Amino acid sequence: MTDRPLLIVILAAGKGTRMKSARPKVLHEIAGMSMLGHVLALAGALGATGTAVVVGPGMDDVRAEALRLAPDVQIFVQGEQLGTANAVLAAREAIAAHNGDVLVLYADTPLMRNSSLKELLSVLEHGVGISVLGFESDDPTGYGRLITEDGGRLLAIREHKDASPEELGIRLCNSGVMGFRVDDLVGLLERIGSYNAKREYYLTDAIEIASADGIGAAVVTCEEQEVLGVNSRDHLAVAEGIWQRRARAEAMLGGVTMVAPETVWLSHDTVLGRDVLVEPNVFIGLGVSIEDNVRIRANSYLEGKNAKSRAGIHIEEGAEIGPFARLRPGTRLGRDVQIGNFVEIKNANMEAGAKASHLTYVGDAHVGAEANIGAGTIFCNYDGFRKSRCDVGAGVFIGSNSALVAPVKVGDGAYVAAGSTITRDVASQSLAIERAVQAEKPG
Ligand code: UD1
Ligand code: MG
Repeated sequence: MTDRPLLIVILAAGKGTRMKSARPKVLHEIAGMSMLGHVLALAGALGATGTAVVVGPGMDDVRAEALRLAPDVQIFVQGEQLGTANAVLAAREAIAAHNGDVLVLYADTPLMRNSSLKELLSVLEHGVGISVLGFESDDPTGYGRLITEDGGRLLAIREHKDASPEELGIRLCNSGVMGFRVDDLVGLLERIGSYNAKREYYLTDAIEIASADGIGAAVVTCEEQEVLGVNSRDHLAVAEGIWQRRARAEAMLGGVTMVAPETVWLSHDTVLGRDVLVEPNVFIGLGVSIEDNVRIRANSYLEGKNAKSRAGIHIEEGAEIGPFARLRPGTRLGRDVQIGNFVEIKNANMEAGAKASHLTYVGDAHVGAEANIGAGTIFCNYDGFRKSRCDVGAGVFIGSNSALVAPVKVGDGAYVAAGSTITRDVASQSLAIERAVQAEKPG
């Protein structure tokens, strides 16, 4: 890396017809974030002074996503898809105004590592004006081949369709990621023609044209996985799998225990503390943060935020969740809270030491410290028209199979007898019992 100003141009114009989707390809998600978002995050981490995103005509949702995630990006429209050089030139205004290095990324290639991109930029120096991120592939079919001199200098990139049989034998491939330190990049790209098998303006032709001007090119290699380009739903699933493996490995390096890591699914923003224990088959959605020493037992579903609710989930130290628990948006659990099997919690704050161990729904509620919510308790938060809240005080005991009909308040230290339907507030330190007297008819 250098400290020269850096402009990143992200190509996102592809419609992605092979996705068979109403959504543009680059808005499909990995770990809960669009592929475009992953690439914008990389751009942010590289400290780019400017970022340009090239979209296709009518791609207003791609534009909106880019501006939502990175309000400073400049958006350019490539009118017709005439090739990668033409796509970069769509951002000519940004490139011409920029005085520094330019890095070209594809928005459908979301797994690149920051370290590889830094290395790619670090080789740009006097004599090397273009650097290309390459990879060795056992099956290079379809990729551009990197033609190098013995010393490693890059002489040309040959697209598969234009390659000679001998060139097709090369396994060193072009990832598409390219760094430029060229005085007049716009001028260089404008000299690229479309005399090739696809009648497209190939960005890759910049290598040979620049070489005629005495500008050298070099290759930096990375793992093939990093530059996986997503073209279809099966590629999307492969990319998701690679992302998840990396994230789990990182979590474990950070002190998280996973009994069966391959069955745990994380989101791009998941935060896990030290000595968190995650049992098998756990799903963690968006906006979930978990403090130290929490145990998430098997088959639990921590939903986190969604399109309707932007509130995430926070779990404090020592809490135990599951097995088979479902935590929905707006769940906040204090220290040592215990949530057992078949318990669902939504938009609720449970204070330290509170327990709901079996078969319970806690929605739109506050539950005080050390309260015990008995088996089968339902917080009836919805009357068919609107949602209301329940407030359960500290140290309250709710007997099994009770219904709390919101809005209702149960004072500190109160007791609700099993089977009660509570519709009126219960004073603190008192017993509420709402239950028909048991009749007994002998014989
Ligand atoms: C490109 C490279 C090839 C490399 C491969 C890696 C060129 C000429 N070839 O080939 O050397 O091995 O990527 O995956 O660059 N795009 C636009 N507008 C266009 C054309 C493309 O925005 O007019 C975008 C696409 O949406 C895509 C990216 O640029 O994200 C690459 O284009 P694509 O047509 O997939 O190029 P490949 O043939 O895969
Ligand atoms: Mg491609």
